[in-house]
Amino acid sequence: MQQNEGKKVSINLNYLRPYSNLVFSLYSIGGEKILNEYTLLTPKIIEFMKNEYGNIVFAYETRRKGIISEKNLTMAVDTSRTIVEEINKSKKITKATYREAEKVVDSIITDLDSAEIEAINLLQNLKFYEEYSFQHSVNVGILAAIFARLKGTFSKEEIKFLTLGAYLLDIGLTRIEKKLLLKKDKYTPVDMQKMKQHPQFGYEILKNIPGIHPIVLQTLLFHHEKHNYKGYYSLPYDLLPLPPKIVSICDIYDALTSPRPYRNSVSPTNALKFLVNSIDIHFDYDLISDFVNKIGPLLNNAQSFYTKGDFCALSTKELAMIMDFNLDDYMRPKVMVFCKFAQKQGNLKVWFYDSPVYTDLAEDKGRYLTRVIDNKKHINIIRAKLIQKGMIK
Ligand SMILES: [Fe+2]
Repeated sequence: MQQNEGKKVSINLNYLRPYSNLVFSLYSIGGEKILNEYTLLTPKIIEFMKNEYGNIVFAYETRRKGIISEKNLTMAVDTSRTIVEEINKSKKITKATYREAEKVVDSIITDLDSAEIEAINLLQNLKFYEEYSFQHSVNVGILAAIFARLKGTFSKEEIKFLTLGAYLLDIGLTRIEKKLLLKKDKYTPVDMQKMKQHPQFGYEILKNIPGIHPIVLQTLLFHHEKHNYKGYYSLPYDLLPLPPKIVSICDIYDALTSPRPYRNSVSPTNALKFLVNSIDIHFDYDLISDFVNKIGPLLNNAQSFYTKGDFCALSTKELAMIMDFNLDDYMRPKVMVFCKFAQKQGNLKVWFYDSPVYTDLAEDKGRYLTRVIDNKKHINIIRAKLIQKGMIK
């Protein structure tokens, strides 16, 4: 077997997006190289690999593919640490340190400008970045910069300050007692009240810096607001500016995919699924659709967050089975709709149709996907019912 460096990640062939490019080579469970990097994943090739090697194969995420230089990453982590130490000591941030943070963001953006982004490797699990919070602030900055660039609607200046806001996102936590930050048990309502102050604290730390850009302040202040108005400050989400909403998605994605002392990291597939399942609750459809379509494949080795045969819920309170990927917009697969549902006091009620409705969500403007069903018990019940009704075999 060839010597490989980098993190070994498993790839489920059922989740590969047809016609995408995998930037890493694929290996069988036995260690045999089965596909060269940059091979176009035609349905025929995917089918062949499934038949020969089973559903699960491996790739090695090599650091060679890292988009930010080692030097700039180290500077970003070090500056993050300096900022926190400075605020801990003096309760504020000096203009000089703020300029250092700006420099970090400039270097990240310069690196992104000079690289063709094929895969986002956030360098997790590397031993030399032991302190989660510093690594997290850098990761959220990188993700936010990439997301904002791919969205294509922001000016260079806006991208810079959005990225800076992402990088400094949680500096307000420096004013929260350490004991609470390190607490492993569930937060009490009193704990939550205290934690909810950190966006405001962050804003206060930065607001008097001469020339501070409003995007930075907005991003810090509003990064815990939610689509259903149940965020930290219960603000009307639809009236909020875009930067905090974008950064909030990146914040949650990186938090989920990072290992913590009290839980393992979540796989990119499941983190993307989590974001999709937060549509209309935490996030709005359009931003999640953008994230999943534009950044998802770069984060997730060309895999989708669902596969054929998965069940999903639609905006019409209907359940459907995913029949095929849509190559232009992964949020709009071809589906078979088979029942209406309602949730009353925690109980799920379903009304099956006499015959299923086959529809392409790319063209069906009345329906959109809001959730991929991931509850194993529900999946088994639904599958049994569909077989009984003769809708699937
Ligand atoms: Fe936060």
